[in-house]
Amino acid sequence: MSNFKLGIIGAGFISRFHAKAMQLVRGVELAGVYSPNSGPKLAALAAELGVGECTVYDSIAELCNNVDAVCIFSPNYTRVDTMGAVVDAVKAGAALKGIIIEKPLGRTVAEAQTLVDLAKEAGVPTAYFENQIHMKGIRAALAQLKPQQESMGPLSLARSSEEHCGPHEPWFWDPVRQGGGVLSDMGCHSIAVGWYVLTPYGKPVDFLKPISVSADTSLLKWGTREGRKNLMDRMGVDYAKSPAEDFATGIVTFENPETGQQSKAQFTNSWMYDKQGMRLFMDGMGPGYAFELNTLQTPLQVFVGDEAADAVADAETALEKSTATRGLLTVEPNEADLYGYVDEIEDAIRCFSAGHDAFLNFEYGLEITRLCQAAYMAAERGVTLDLRDAQVQKDLETYTSLIAQGRGREVLHVQQ
Ligand SMILES: NC(=O)c1ccc[n+]([C@@H]2O[C@H](COP(=O)([O-])OP(=O)(O)OC[C@H]3O[C@@H](n4cnc5c(N)ncnc54)[C@H](O)[C@@H]3O)[C@@H](O)[C@H]2O)c1
Repeated sequence: MSNFKLGIIGAGFISRFHAKAMQLVRGVELAGVYSPNSGPKLAALAAELGVGECTVYDSIAELCNNVDAVCIFSPNYTRVDTMGAVVDAVKAGAALKGIIIEKPLGRTVAEAQTLVDLAKEAGVPTAYFENQIHMKGIRAALAQLKPQQESMGPLSLARSSEEHCGPHEPWFWDPVRQGGGVLSDMGCHSIAVGWYVLTPYGKPVDFLKPISVSADTSLLKWGTREGRKNLMDRMGVDYAKSPAEDFATGIVTFENPETGQQSKAQFTNSWMYDKQGMRLFMDGMGPGYAFELNTLQTPLQVFVGDEAADAVADAETALEKSTATRGLLTVEPNEADLYGYVDEIEDAIRCFSAGHDAFLNFEYGLEITRLCQAAYMAAERGVTLDLRDAQVQKDLETYTSLIAQGRGREVLHVQQ
């Protein structure tokens, strides 16, 4: 059987990560890339990793005509136009078996809805890439605790966080292009994985009904004078004018439609986590049982003393968003597998080959966008938002947070 040919749109950070993940997936090859820059670099990486002969195409249409599925891994602000070009290619005859989009599906509910509608128009199966739900650690925790869930009842509290020192490219920091700050960028992960672990084993991912959301969005590090100067110097963004939140936390309350039991997912995300590097932390509490996962706890540590620190490896070889090259370093030897990228690619290819959506599809991505935007709305209004209120749902359809409008000064503290 020939390999499943994946094509990637965008050739940045996440495309490189997925290329690495493909090394561990059987029957797939990175066959093509379209990107305004770095396409040849991604093709060279594919050759180096042995994941395929990756052709650099000059248009999205050409890419779509030469692969089995495309991955939209370009920045958030390019989503709708990029998806439009993919749909045009399908209408013109490209025989795609699937379309993959990285998180977040959209910067607003309206944008995410447009993507769902465009996919329907194309009639092509979809995958929404939320890697944390595919993490082997999360799946193993739930499998191990299945007997407890069955005898004692499901989990009732989940806490999830993703934190690091801040994104690698300027557009992430720009709330208009990105869709907000850390809540839009990483809250989508933590809300999704919280919802997932609370879901009774074997039930669909949207089985638990979200009934309310409360949240706090704050600017704690990058709104200080020093923080703003640092951001301006490194990223060219002005947080005195148009800041985004670097800290977000909140609670989503869910209700089990069969039993009426309520459960809560607390999420915490920050771009001000100045420790070794990125940390994903999840825990869950059930009656009489629990789990905890912390990606900074690794069996491998490396020490580089001052004396030996003249020539050091790229810090990110050790860990995503690593902040140090010396001292006691946390090293994750296989982050692509640890974070779930391998498993989400495997799932998408298996599902697309069978002619249907992946485990997580665009409709699911839309629900995550709705919860993220509800969290912005709750923080802005200073209330616990009742998601069963028809007016709230209507407001969400057309809502763009003040932060995502570039008006973050109205809701965030910027030091004078
Ligand atoms: N799952 C995760 O943990 C995770 C991690 C990082 C990024 N992401 C998501 O992946 C997406 C890309 O992020 P990234 O970190 O790779 O960004 P990046 O800025 O590193 O790379 C983006 C790439 O897209 C290209 N690009 C820009 N405009 C384009 C266009 N109009 N058409 C095609 N390509 C275009 C850029 O040249 C660049 O090669 C984002 O939506 C982000 O949220 C997910």
